[in-house]
Amino acid sequence: MDRHSHLNYSTNARATNVMLPDLARLVRVIPMVEDNFMFLFRFEDPALNDKFLYKPGQFAEITVIGTGEAPISISSTPTRKGVLEMCIRRMGRVTNALYNLPENSLVGIRGPYGNGYPVEEMKGHDVLIIAGGLGMAPLRSLLNFILDNRSQFGRVVLMYGTKSPDDVLFRDEMESLMRRTDLECLLTVEQAYQYPGAHPWRGKIGMVTELFQHVKDLNVQNTYAAVCGPPIFYKFVLDKLLKLNFSKDHILMSLERRMECGVGKCGHCAIGYKYTCIDGPIFSYWDIVNMPELIEF
Ligand SMILES: Cc1cc2nc3c(=O)[nH]c(=O)nc-3n(C[C@H](O)[C@H](O)[C@H](O)COP(=O)(O)OP(=O)(O)OC[C@H]3O[C@@H](n4cnc5c(N)ncnc54)[C@H](O)[C@@H]3O)c2cc1C
Ligand code: FES
Repeated sequence: MDRHSHLNYSTNARATNVMLPDLARLVRVIPMVEDNFMFLFRFEDPALNDKFLYKPGQFAEITVIGTGEAPISISSTPTRKGVLEMCIRRMGRVTNALYNLPENSLVGIRGPYGNGYPVEEMKGHDVLIIAGGLGMAPLRSLLNFILDNRSQFGRVVLMYGTKSPDDVLFRDEMESLMRRTDLECLLTVEQAYQYPGAHPWRGKIGMVTELFQHVKDLNVQNTYAAVCGPPIFYKFVLDKLLKLNFSKDHILMSLERRMECGVGKCGHCAIGYKYTCIDGPIFSYWDIVNMPELIEF
């Protein structure tokens, strides 16, 4: 028996069993920051590269053959087909195994899962994207989706904060985003360390919430705020957004929870009456008000 036979080769079988992964090739690994690399995958079945339709904010389950699977946000945008990009931190069993895979290895991918950002509803509105640290990974999908459909959105602002210049994800992309005239791109670091070989820093220094003072005349009634970052980051950013009077259902957060099946069957991700794998991972502040257990500060 072929050692990949538990992975699915046919889109028909996939249609009848959502838990079956499809074979994909790890085509490239790009180091980003320490213990956080970008992995590029392409489905073995060329038709699937077009048929794998996803929304910004959705995730997929990645199988490292013989080790297990982990849910990972899709960092690429559905507007640029052909390759799935995922920015992955080395954490435990599956992600360590992924880091040890040579390029050209086969993995399994099933998905896309989760609700994703309500991009159709967001069209016609201004969008404020607020990312902290690795939170830029899922938000990059939303940002590039908006930039690829630029005329359908209003004002777009990106605020991105990390601990130090060494922690900035997608550094080269940030440089070109800062040159765009149809995007306000504000970057900040908590500390710009000086040591031989340190990344030079010409951006701002301070917490991400301090960037609000540089964004004038936000039309909060017409703006969606998409927020993703470490737990402590939500506390301060949400506080700021609420003080600015953002509508609770226009504040959208990407929340990670322990997941197993990813499709609402196993109950591992249940919080109250919500399954975070299918009702999330994108939640509005309105959801949090009704279910405070959704967020851990
Ligand atoms: C919807 C969703 C999207 C995600 N997107 C990404 C992504 O884009 N990039 C990325 O690097 N990771 C992402 N993750 C997190 C990733 O799935 C976990 O880190 C996963 O556990 C890694 O698998 P592992 O086998 O390597 O680690 P494990 O061996 O499973 O765990 C390693 C350590 O991490 C802890 N842990 C695992 N999952 C979580 C969690 N959800 N919250 C808090 N602690 C946890 C475990 O308790 C353990 O201490 C996402 C998770 C979810 C639910
Ligand atoms: S992960 Fe199984 S129900 Fe959500």
